[in-house]
Amino acid sequence: MSVPREENCPPEHVLSVAIEAARAAGSLLLQYARSGFRIEHKNPINLVTEADHAAEQCVIDRVRAKFPTHRILAEERGVEAQLISRYHWIVDPLDGTTNFAHGFPVYAVSIGVQYDGRGLIGVVYDATRDELFTAKAGDGACLNGSSIAVSSTDQLDSALLVTGFAYDIRDTPNNNLNHFARFALKAQGLRRTGSAALDLCYVAAGRFDGFWEVKLSPWDTAAGVVILCEAGGRVTDFHGNPHSIYQPELVASNGRIHEAMLAVLLEDPSPNQPT
Ligand code: IPD
Ligand code: CA
Ligand code: CA
Repeated sequence: MSVPREENCPPEHVLSVAIEAARAAGSLLLQYARSGFRIEHKNPINLVTEADHAAEQCVIDRVRAKFPTHRILAEERGVEAQLISRYHWIVDPLDGTTNFAHGFPVYAVSIGVQYDGRGLIGVVYDATRDELFTAKAGDGACLNGSSIAVSSTDQLDSALLVTGFAYDIRDTPNNNLNHFARFALKAQGLRRTGSAALDLCYVAAGRFDGFWEVKLSPWDTAAGVVILCEAGGRVTDFHGNPHSIYQPELVASNGRIHEAMLAVLLEDPSPNQPT
């Protein structure tokens, strides 16, 4: 099969390759979940499994086969080759590794594609529920092919929020526990799923009303941010400035509770210090 010229990649084609890769990697994760897998420790609480590596290889092989000139950034191996390309694939082969390692079935494959630095495609696949979240810039967001939209909740008091904690939680005061404590008293409910990619998709689908974290990586957010924005959501930094997947702080919401969330995050004059 001939390889499409880079300037001439229809976004639909990019999306279909991302979906195919996410589904294949998701099936692999399920196979490992059934058969067992080796676990290594990056630090006492930061794990990586055989399944992370296998799913990552699976995605890279599929993308390389169709788009050999595209640049790929994947969590476990970084940037594979310093290719100059307008297309950047950003891959988290297993978002929710701690959950996966414990048999807690909340994890996903996350594949985002940027074109000229802007989010073009987002695909997040939760193989355990067979839920496929997809978006193409300008075209809306879908869950298993049906349109999704953010919630209409407009008060923190009635909002279900979600957050997460970075693997250096034991080593730094910038550990998000201060924000967690404040939101716990202001929101209707607060959750920690263990998969930032799914957190973003769940805000997109109206299952959560808002999400924040202090130390995310591009592979956690590249896909979910496209999906959330296409579902009508808002994503910024803690000051309400435009969000970049290369900055660690993120606030994502249905838009209606965004300012209220920012106000809580900025309440503390030194928000990086625990209260
Ligand atoms: C982690 C998850 C978690 C978030 C962490 C991430 P990983 O990714 O997305 O929800 O709180 O910050 O590092 O390690 O499971 O791919
Ligand atoms: Ca991740
Ligand atoms: Ca991961």
